Amino acid sequence: MATLIAAQPVTQVAATDLVRDLDLTDDEVQCLLDLAGKVKRTPAKFARALAGKYLALLFEKPSLRTRLTFELSIKQLGGDSVVSEGPVDGREPLKDVARNLERWVQGIVARTFSQSTIEELAQWSSAPVINALSDLYHPCQALADVFTLRERFGELRGLKLAFVGDGNNVAHSLMLTALRLGVDFAISTPEGYAPNAEIVAQAEGLAAVSGARLQVTHDPAKAVAGASAVYTDVWTSMGKEKESAKRRKQFASHQVNGGLMALARHDAVFMHCLPAKRGEEVTDAVIESGQSIVFDQAENRLHAQKALLLMMLR
Ligand code: CP
Repeated sequence: MATLIAAQPVTQVAATDLVRDLDLTDDEVQCLLDLAGKVKRTPAKFARALAGKYLALLFEKPSLRTRLTFELSIKQLGGDSVVSEGPVDGREPLKDVARNLERWVQGIVARTFSQSTIEELAQWSSAPVINALSDLYHPCQALADVFTLRERFGELRGLKLAFVGDGNNVAHSLMLTALRLGVDFAISTPEGYAPNAEIVAQAEGLAAVSGARLQVTHDPAKAVAGASAVYTDVWTSMGKEKESAKRRKQFASHQVNGGLMALARHDAVFMHCLPAKRGEEVTDAVIESGQSIVFDQAENRLHAQKALLLMMLR
């Protein structure tokens, strides 16, 4: 094992947890993308890197990609995981849950309704806590997405990524991650569904440092003009199902269809975090087209999260 790890030096992240995208530094994100590439090309070299390490996966909401790719990531790195479904604090206070888990595992991956649940777990646990989606952020998705974009285009700086749809957790993490890496980011939402104002302010700060441009609009045509990637997500996120009929009407102007894709660059790709609702936020023709890289994104969840675990689990 020693030779395997020595052959593949891994930069450890300074932060104890990844509860918000900005817990990682710009340099750490760059290292993570490089490491994800190495892990993808040579998985066998990392097969025992986390031997003897265990993860607790806490899921308050359903998941296919995040849960299975974390389970596979830790197993393929030589470790293992246990899963708990349902409310994290259903039976006891979060501070007690955290102080139980830290005695058993070397890392906690949590998908919760509220960002505050993840933050409280992180406050009380000495084991690293990784945000696997909250109401505000989806950092693991954004890391896999920028890795996928870099793989496709070779270079991130100078690209324009257009997000069309709800100003939700996926949009927030993508906006922060893209802008810090020098990717221009445009977001178009219907009125009333703009991204969180505080996160937009943070994003403006990142853009000022990286030199990338941020555009926030209600006009999808303006957002996708000149874009190298057009990204969307479901109009109704988990937990907001009662609003779905109302949202279908309000978001109708924000469907990604052939007409909208035609306004982007000729070599633009279509991206979606999945699961998708065909006929709502994206047409079947677009998601099944040669421009679609949605399954590359899904695959890269595995490689990016392996890199993250290698960098976070000490
Ligand atoms: N994209 C994503 O997070 O998928 P799951 O909800 O299936 O985990």
